[in-house]
Amino acid sequence: SRLDTVLAPWSDSTLALLARGYAWLPDRMRATNGGPVRTRLLGRPTVALRGPDAIGFFYDERNVRRASALPGPVLDTLFGRGAVHTLDGEAHRVRKAVFLAILKDGAGVEALAEHVARCWSESVEEWRDGRSVVLFDEAALVLARAVCAWAGIPLSDEAVRRMAADCTAMVDGFAAPGPRHVRARRARTRQEEALAGLVGAAREAGELTSDKGTAFEAVVWHRDADGGLADPRTAAVELLNIVRPTVAIAWFAAFAAHALHRWPQHREPLRKDEDGRYARAFAHEVRRFYPFAPFVGGLAATDLTWRGEPVAEDTLILLDLYGYHHDPTMWINPYRFDPGRFTGREPGADELIPQGGGDPAHGHRCPGEDVTVAVLATLVRQLAHLDHEVPAQDLSIPLSRIPTRPRSGFVLTVDGTSR
Ligand code: HEM
Repeated sequence: SRLDTVLAPWSDSTLALLARGYAWLPDRMRATNGGPVRTRLLGRPTVALRGPDAIGFFYDERNVRRASALPGPVLDTLFGRGAVHTLDGEAHRVRKAVFLAILKDGAGVEALAEHVARCWSESVEEWRDGRSVVLFDEAALVLARAVCAWAGIPLSDEAVRRMAADCTAMVDGFAAPGPRHVRARRARTRQEEALAGLVGAAREAGELTSDKGTAFEAVVWHRDADGGLADPRTAAVELLNIVRPTVAIAWFAAFAAHALHRWPQHREPLRKDEDGRYARAFAHEVRRFYPFAPFVGGLAATDLTWRGEPVAEDTLILLDLYGYHHDPTMWINPYRFDPGRFTGREPGADELIPQGGGDPAHGHRCPGEDVTVAVLATLVRQLAHLDHEVPAQDLSIPLSRIPTRPRSGFVLTVDGTSR
């Protein structure tokens, strides 16, 4: 209506989201008794949902589509144009299959976690000269080295350093105006160009000479739903959709260090954790407790009804992730960090949704969850075994910033004498 149009600039939450960050949606949810929250983002009518029923509703492909859902600034930094995130239906299923084949639990995931453990141990030796290191930066470098080696992406050590910095810049700048955003765009352009060059070279060299059985090979020779190879730039986008989020486990590594520092009682059980099960429970609790992905979004595929209320076609539908993990109707003492929630069991599919919900094979749920949990559990064990000091620093985690992390990046110094 005309009134709507006139009022639109005042009912738009874009600025509130940018200013309040992770607190914006949970506050609105509280004010509406659990939602749905109706607002606008970037001028688009928006409805935000939370709860177990919301997960099923959101991940039903008949209800929500992804094409045109993500704003340009997010594509040009975080995900890339033409990424799997933006596909629907058959095109999505066929592209998604390549990620699932590479990333599902099994030998590949174990091999990646072993690369991480090896690269971490090598880095720790370099830290023994007594200097302070920023764990966030070091973890990003360890993860970039590990994932590029594992994926068979042929990069020099200098190029891997650039990759680590560029991947963290892409994630850091996707939701921020100003210099962080500019850095993120430049980082993406640089890495897409570099990787598209590698894809082109591998294709020219021919199928037989490329590295067999690697993620690089799988993406380079993957055929889309139309039967053709993706253009080199799109292949580069999807290679980055493996490398970038693996490097982004550095955010969880910094959070894990924060948790171990704040609640040191978990160090001992982690040191005695022979089968790695406590480390997995700890990793799950880090993914629940700390803020990373605030929500996921898509567009109403048609006129819908949610809890009896109409949701018009093309409405932006958000599924609240961060708020869901701190909802007192879902969790006992949600603001208590307690790996005991997950000891001796794996969380149910839609119980823990920091990487989306539903079935990764039939929707957009993250295909990298097995990797994330295995790699994070590896880093948690390494951290628990590392004799280190934590000098005075600013460890606050501002909720107003997306993505956030301990302000200092978690500075530590390693004991140079013992191992
Ligand atoms: C999708 C989170 C790690 C690859 C997603 C989504 C979220 C997410 C929230 C979107 C779900 C949706 O749209 O419904 C995370 C977090 C991670 C992580 C917090 C920890 C750092 C990884 C890793 C990989 C990966 C390690 C690959 C090695 C992907 C891909 C998609 C995706 C390819 C797109 C899936 C699709 O659209 O079908 N992730 N992820 N992620 N993630 Fe992750």
